[in-house]
Amino acid sequence: MYKGAEKAAGGLQAGRPRRLLVIPLPDGKMVIISLYFKWGELTSKLMDESTLFSLLVDLHKGGERQGPGGSEQTLMALKLSGINPASRLAVADIGCGTGASTRVLAENLVNAHITAVDLFPEFLQVLADSACAVGYSDRVSPLAGSMESLPFDDQSLDLIWSEGAIYNMGFGKGVEAWRRLLRPGGVLAVSEITWLRPDPPDQIRQYWEAEYAEIGTAAEKIAVLEGAGYDLLGHFILPPSCWIENYYQPTEARIDDFLQRHADQPQAQQLIEMERQEAAMYEKWQSVYGYGFYVARKRQVNLRGEK
Ligand SMILES: C[S@@+](CC[C@H](N)C(=O)[O-])C[C@H]1O[C@@H](n2cnc3c(N)ncnc32)[C@H](O)[C@@H]1O
Repeated sequence: MYKGAEKAAGGLQAGRPRRLLVIPLPDGKMVIISLYFKWGELTSKLMDESTLFSLLVDLHKGGERQGPGGSEQTLMALKLSGINPASRLAVADIGCGTGASTRVLAENLVNAHITAVDLFPEFLQVLADSACAVGYSDRVSPLAGSMESLPFDDQSLDLIWSEGAIYNMGFGKGVEAWRRLLRPGGVLAVSEITWLRPDPPDQIRQYWEAEYAEIGTAAEKIAVLEGAGYDLLGHFILPPSCWIENYYQPTEARIDDFLQRHADQPQAQQLIEMERQEAAMYEKWQSVYGYGFYVARKRQVNLRGEK
């Protein structure tokens, strides 16, 4: 959905948002700026960052998901984990948004306790309300905070789940940092932006390398996991329906109401242009990039001999 949210959510840390900003000029032309620039510089010139993030949250909190994914794919990844659904488990769903994956996990891991972590309390409120409505609230604890400073004890988690969110801290850094939180043999399941071909055309390769240099092929992602002390249990690529039908189309359907709510804010229109750019980009290049879902088990020790 976006990157660089930490500062806006609590002044924790500025990042680099992976967005394009389209700015209408008075003569009717458009300027497209990649948000590769330092967030602070950009927003001080163009849009106050707290405005941008409050608009983003308002646009997305009404969505089932805040990024590409699907319940069927959450279940497929759960199956790859080999976890016995009846076992007592400590689970963290990191960057959970409004809880699309949290609900699937709660429904299927019937003796699990899930800590659902996100930066934005507004998303967690939606998650908490829906957990309450379906009777899972005793097994789901929302936690507002950063994926970069998680409050779990070492080796305290059986399962770490994270759909479409680890890019916020970077795949390599994330899988490395989260490993110590898993008990030996614990499982990590993450979805991550992935090249579907080893030879992406220059135009899209340059865009992604500027926005998120860690984008790589599935083989490269698996090598990172193995190097960080995990054994791969399985992986698959999310189908385009996870992006288009489950994410971009429902977002588009909320846009008219969103623009009406923010009719006095030109930034709302700018944000929508960004959202539409992102959707159009995926539409065009869907055979070249997508999300890979990677499921891996923590090895007893990593390459440095650490547990
Ligand atoms: C693309 S959305 C995915 C949300 C959800 N997992 C889903 O698939 O619908 C990324 C999520 O990560 C959250 N996020 C961004 N930076 C974060 C951080 N540093 N720590 C925790 N959550 C973060 C955002 O608020 C957002 O909910």
